[in-house]
Amino acid sequence: MVSIILAMDEKSIRKESSSPCRPVEHLLDAQPGTDSVPARIEELREQLCHHEYLYYVLDAPEWSDARYDAAMNELRALEAAHPELVTPDSPTQRVGGKPREGFVKVAHSRPMLSLDNVYNEEELRAWAERVAGGLAAGESPRYVCELKLDGLSVALQYQASARGAASLKTGVTRGDGTVGEDVTGNVRTIRSVPLQVSVRALQRAGLPSCFEVRGEVVLPRKAFEQMNREREAQGLAPAANPRNAAAGTLRTLEPNIVAQRRLELFAYFLLRGEDAGEAAGEPLLETQSAALAALREAGFLVNAYARTAESIADVLQFVAEAEGLRDGLPYEIDGVVIKVDAVAQQRRLGFTGKAPRWAIAYKFPARAGLTQLLEVKFSVGRTGKITPVAVLSPVSIGGTTVTRATLHNSDEVRRLGVRIGDFVSVERGGDVIPKITEVVSDATHPRGDQEIVFPAVCPRCGEALVRTEGEVDLRCVNASCPARLEEELRHFASRGVMNIEGLGEAMVAQLLGHSAGENAATGGEDAGSQDAPFGEMDAEGGEGVEPGPARGALVSSIADLYDAEKVNRASLLTLDRVGEKTADALLEQIARSKQQPLQRVLLGLGIRHVGERTALALAEEFGSMDAIMAADIEDLTRVNDIGPKVAETVREFFSSPRNRALVERLRGYGLRFSAERKARGSSLSGLTFVLTGTLPTLTREQATERIEAAGGKVVGSVSKRTSFVVAGAEAGSKLEKARQLGVPVIDEAELMAMAPVRSALV
Ligand code: IVH
Repeated sequence: MVSIILAMDEKSIRKESSSPCRPVEHLLDAQPGTDSVPARIEELREQLCHHEYLYYVLDAPEWSDARYDAAMNELRALEAAHPELVTPDSPTQRVGGKPREGFVKVAHSRPMLSLDNVYNEEELRAWAERVAGGLAAGESPRYVCELKLDGLSVALQYQASARGAASLKTGVTRGDGTVGEDVTGNVRTIRSVPLQVSVRALQRAGLPSCFEVRGEVVLPRKAFEQMNREREAQGLAPAANPRNAAAGTLRTLEPNIVAQRRLELFAYFLLRGEDAGEAAGEPLLETQSAALAALREAGFLVNAYARTAESIADVLQFVAEAEGLRDGLPYEIDGVVIKVDAVAQQRRLGFTGKAPRWAIAYKFPARAGLTQLLEVKFSVGRTGKITPVAVLSPVSIGGTTVTRATLHNSDEVRRLGVRIGDFVSVERGGDVIPKITEVVSDATHPRGDQEIVFPAVCPRCGEALVRTEGEVDLRCVNASCPARLEEELRHFASRGVMNIEGLGEAMVAQLLGHSAGENAATGGEDAGSQDAPFGEMDAEGGEGVEPGPARGALVSSIADLYDAEKVNRASLLTLDRVGEKTADALLEQIARSKQQPLQRVLLGLGIRHVGERTALALAEEFGSMDAIMAADIEDLTRVNDIGPKVAETVREFFSSPRNRALVERLRGYGLRFSAERKARGSSLSGLTFVLTGTLPTLTREQATERIEAAGGKVVGSVSKRTSFVVAGAEAGSKLEKARQLGVPVIDEAELMAMAPVRSALV
């Protein structure tokens, strides 16, 4: 029998848990505006803590971001005015740390051991027999199965705060197992790590206020991909896998950067705290399953996929399920950890060298393989970026035959020191493009002898390649390079952009009059998209110089897709394997794509560095394509998330006559050029407010709530784009800034007139 201690549905479990903070129900109806500053500070901290827990641990937020920001800003302001009231477990202190020069070494309460591995059923059964041999005859242990998260382990010490709650004191990496590095400032930035556990939560979980938690810090796959995109944009070598990226991030000296990376910590051990003397670091509860339940109760993020197993057959069942889950999880796992549940039994079993006898890691088959590098081809991406693509002797990795891997850029080729003919280790992540991780050289794997030479001219159009100052990448700057056109079109049509189904790689090539698979690897910049898994591509790559678009091309730009003279039923029917049904479906999809919102159109233009988030920020901030086109660098950099580099590429894009002509044609075909207003009909939609000073009757939260309910937005600082500054008593620098910039200033009464309660109820 498999007894489920944690259901398989994360949400349902998450909902059952309770907040680590004192219950705040009373606060929800409370009259804010408490007069004593310490009491208000305490109230805000509890609210923020509770809402962080709802957001980051339960994934069930109740407050809008703006409301959270408003409460955080109020707390920051109060703490700034009363620095003596700041405590390290205040939510304002998550990113309080200053850049550091290095990390202090700290000894662990008990060594942080590693695990022995098994790779198949036979080895697992052999381990179970050794376990049985260490216990009394006939005693069959219960096991706990957990996912083996692919990150790095850390130890967190909690100690009693003045209020009797437990507050996070230190966070230390595993290091060599005995001594790790103090990364407390960085651990604090992980939102799922409670900075404090309230007295109530401690009681509920049955915990003392001094204890140790051990767990795994992971970088979710999305954050990993984002991090690598940013690194590539900065010309840095990408991190090889999420584990390395998490480790690198946790050891970053600037907590600010760490905070942006969105690490997660999954707790899996609950141990006695530093006050336990000799017993510090011993398990706190009698079973591992009780420890997981208590950790969850106390507000820690505990992985939802864990359960007890009464037999090895149950364990194998869990392993099979976990393998099935693997690709769909938002983070990487590399196996299952099986632990003997009862601590009394764990004690009897003890340790061997570096690993406990009472736990084992069942490792999934490696998603790495060894193969030979046959050739390097160069693909041309959407923005002209040249990517070296390794052509490999086919190798099966985790059930997929891999024939290609990315080599990213010349820096990466240099870093690996790879030559053609070398044997290389290739890794494949869930949905990540296969990559070469190292050169393997030994007696049976001799080194290759052919250097990888980057081309001087574009492999598709023959134009001389250019390397921009300070960048690693070579680029083809010929705007009508056929490879670039293919990639532009593919990107424009892809899922998450204009979403034109049926316009995959093969169709794009046909529309452009090219033959399919000419680019060495599909998508130099966004390779690995759903349409053409990188590892399973047609092995034929394009070589030599291709003269402009071939005869028979229906289109030669994105805009041509919407030109009925060019793309129509009759013209589509002239293409290979296109019948009436396919033609009509494609035309319907193209027509429907005109409804995609402004941010998708912007994204579809393929401006360098303008990804989903930036496109959305631009659309929201400027409201129309015209405003974006007219914006100067200063206007652009005022948008959150947009730095000078991105601003420059946006400017550059819109100053090109070719791009402007393209945009004008798209306008002519009726694509959306203005942002949709959220909460249509709301009186304040599209307007941005800044609150400053103390309002006569409304608290900041109430004012924020009203503005948001009426469709407006509340932000923290005043810029030219701020619609109104709402000023109350003792308004300071924000009011002054508003006056300087000519932003209209209103008072509470005017705000109430603009956002009557009626709209707050809509
Ligand atoms: S228990 C002595 N539980 O795997 C017990 N470890 O290969 C060791 N890991 O160093 C830790 N998920 O970094 C445990 N659910 C889990 C884990 C886990 C991932 C990591 C951990 C450990 C390594 C051992």
